[in-house]
Amino acid sequence: MMKKNHLSFFIFLSILGINIFDSFQRPVEALPLYTNSRWIVDEAGNRVKLACVNWPSHLETMVAEGLSKQPVDVISKKIIFMGFNCVRFTWPLFLATNDSLGLITVKQSFQSLGLSESIAGIKVNNPSLLDLPVIQAYQVVVKNLADNNVMVILDNHISKPGWCCSNYDGNGFFGDKYFDPNLWIKGLTRMATLFNNTSNVVAMSLRNELRGSKQNINDWYRYMQKGAEAVHSANPNVIVILSGLNYDKDFGFLATNPLNLTFTGKLAFELHWYGFSDGKAWENGNANQVCGSIVSNMMRRGGFLLDQGWPVIMTEWGIDQRGTNVNDNRYLNCIMAVAAELDLDWALWTLTGSYYLREGVMGMDETYGVLNWDWCGIRNSSFIQKISALQTPFQGLSNAKPHKVIFHPATGLCILKKSLLEPLTLGSCADSDAWKYTEQQQLLLPYIYLCLQADGLGKPAKLGLICSNDNSKWETISDSKMHLSSKISNGTTVCLDVDSSNNVITNSCSCLKLDRTCDPGSQWFKIVNSTSSSSSSWAKISLSGMSLSNLIERAISGIITF
Ligand SMILES: *[C@@H]1O[C@H](CO)[C@@H](O)[C@H](O)[C@H]1NC(C)=O
Ligand SMILES: *[C@@H]1O[C@H](CO)[C@@H](O)[C@H](O)[C@H]1NC(C)=O
Ligand SMILES: *[C@@H]1O[C@H](CO)[C@@H](O)[C@H](O)[C@H]1NC(C)=O
Ligand SMILES: *[C@@H]1O[C@H](CO)[C@@H](O)[C@H](O)[C@H]1NC(C)=O
Ligand SMILES: *[C@@H]1O[C@H](CO)[C@@H](O)[C@H](O)[C@H]1NC(C)=O
Ligand SMILES: *[C@@H]1O[C@H](CO)[C@@H](O)[C@H](O)[C@H]1NC(C)=O
Ligand SMILES: *[C@@H]1O[C@H](CO)[C@@H](O)[C@H](O)[C@H]1NC(C)=O
Repeated sequence: MMKKNHLSFFIFLSILGINIFDSFQRPVEALPLYTNSRWIVDEAGNRVKLACVNWPSHLETMVAEGLSKQPVDVISKKIIFMGFNCVRFTWPLFLATNDSLGLITVKQSFQSLGLSESIAGIKVNNPSLLDLPVIQAYQVVVKNLADNNVMVILDNHISKPGWCCSNYDGNGFFGDKYFDPNLWIKGLTRMATLFNNTSNVVAMSLRNELRGSKQNINDWYRYMQKGAEAVHSANPNVIVILSGLNYDKDFGFLATNPLNLTFTGKLAFELHWYGFSDGKAWENGNANQVCGSIVSNMMRRGGFLLDQGWPVIMTEWGIDQRGTNVNDNRYLNCIMAVAAELDLDWALWTLTGSYYLREGVMGMDETYGVLNWDWCGIRNSSFIQKISALQTPFQGLSNAKPHKVIFHPATGLCILKKSLLEPLTLGSCADSDAWKYTEQQQLLLPYIYLCLQADGLGKPAKLGLICSNDNSKWETISDSKMHLSSKISNGTTVCLDVDSSNNVITNSCSCLKLDRTCDPGSQWFKIVNSTSSSSSSWAKISLSGMSLSNLIERAISGIITF
């Protein structure tokens, strides 16, 4: 039976304003960071979830983008405001290895590229940077991020400053025209040393998106090992992050032959995954089938490293934020689900509103950027809202009781019961109830002995007390495994869905197979492991005037349905 004392105790605490379930809070990191199996942790051993945004500084100017539009401190504060705790800050190798590049001033760099408008903008927004060497301007940005408590991953993005990446740009793999392995090690060492005592620089990704015809596994092992050791000995504080082959999509070779390094607790891997990584597959296929096959491929080529006890950071992902790219929109629902389920660390592409100069175009707009063209407003606040669920950890390494949340990737929200008399709705995952998914495939709220039930086509899903019927059994179906299906009393199969007001309902299961014109997004749910949400909402419920025994009594006598 219900533990009544338990309940009164929680109510008592709630009345006092104490919420014992909030013990898992966003940590104030004690740097440096380490790895503990697949997790990144701080000095105290608490999990730190990296929720980063990429800030490019590797194009021709070698200067962090946006400084002609807004003061650096304003940009840093926008990063925090949007919920990121970290920046993957890109740099071109030659910035660190060629003094005639690294030591030219910001002004000279822009002048040589004919970017007089940008110079005027920097004069207004960041006047103190204009006459600094570009390498020092890079340091100033890192320092400003530190002042705003933003962690930094230094990312060697390319050798020769410019837009990245193609198979033929001479920057793709060891031995390419601009990719001398020894010079690369020299540059990595230089940067690692330069930032050795800069505590917010928590990691270095050694080289972005290896690619092209020279790729081979032997050289990967040989040079990645050298690079990792060089960085670690110059700067033992940073986590070394290694990229895979084929645009950072493939670590399959590590499954059978691990990399051997002299140090431990400081190594992670990075994966990249875009909608366009698979061409137009999302648009041209059935979203369930495409998501199913691409995710299993991703797990086989890189995700498996999590199970082997390594952190895998999704350091590039993102979408065209205008919302008109069908390929990107379908991909987003799928990657949101994966990122929640695996509780990945990640870095979104990109912060950029517009570039000083990209691929020969001045002031190019970045439709994948979270800031708009003038680096002032947010390009699409509904996108930021959506990804915010991924910015805080689902799981910590705390002792909080493991449970499930039911995540809805299309909105970035979770199923929750706001009050007993209202239907189940979507809301912030931080307020989610603590669900249990049983072996009998019931979705239970154990604290109140109620389970999720299908009631009828187009009707709200409800909570009930009798959990042994078919309408309380929820199977994960379709190739994506993201439809939660059950049966209503006359035997018809239904799927969990949400209506236009975000109420949780059941409908006919949509586009399970073949159909490529429809989007199953509203019926996609992911049952996600969590140790962080507050399971106090039922206590809030009880506070709204009814004791639990009273409640159960009334439910049994049919006075209220849940
Ligand atoms: C350094 O950069 C300058 C300017 O791009 C170039 O002329 C020079 O060849 C580079 N030096 C080396 C050693 O690569
Ligand atoms: C970093 O700090 C340590 C200890 O304070 C010092 O010995 C070392 O020289 C510093 N390294 C750099 C590159 O400044
Ligand atoms: C880097 O800093 C650490 C302390 O933070 C120090 O032990 C180490 O000697 C420094 N390394 C270099 C190359 O300065
Ligand atoms: C690392 O060491 C293991 C065990 O000694 C060995 O099997 C493996 O081949 C080594 N990997 C490399 C890349 O040298
Ligand atoms: C933001 O994205 C949504 C879809 O995700 C789209 O409907 C909307 O039009 C976008 N807003 C802007 C301002 O681009
Ligand atoms: C079951 O009920 C639904 C309405 O709730 C109806 O649309 C459907 O046709 C019924 N199925 C059968 C097999 O009676
Ligand atoms: C979720 O937790 C269960 C039970 O502890 C575990 O078996 C499963 O592997 C976890 N899933 C993920 C994706 O970590």
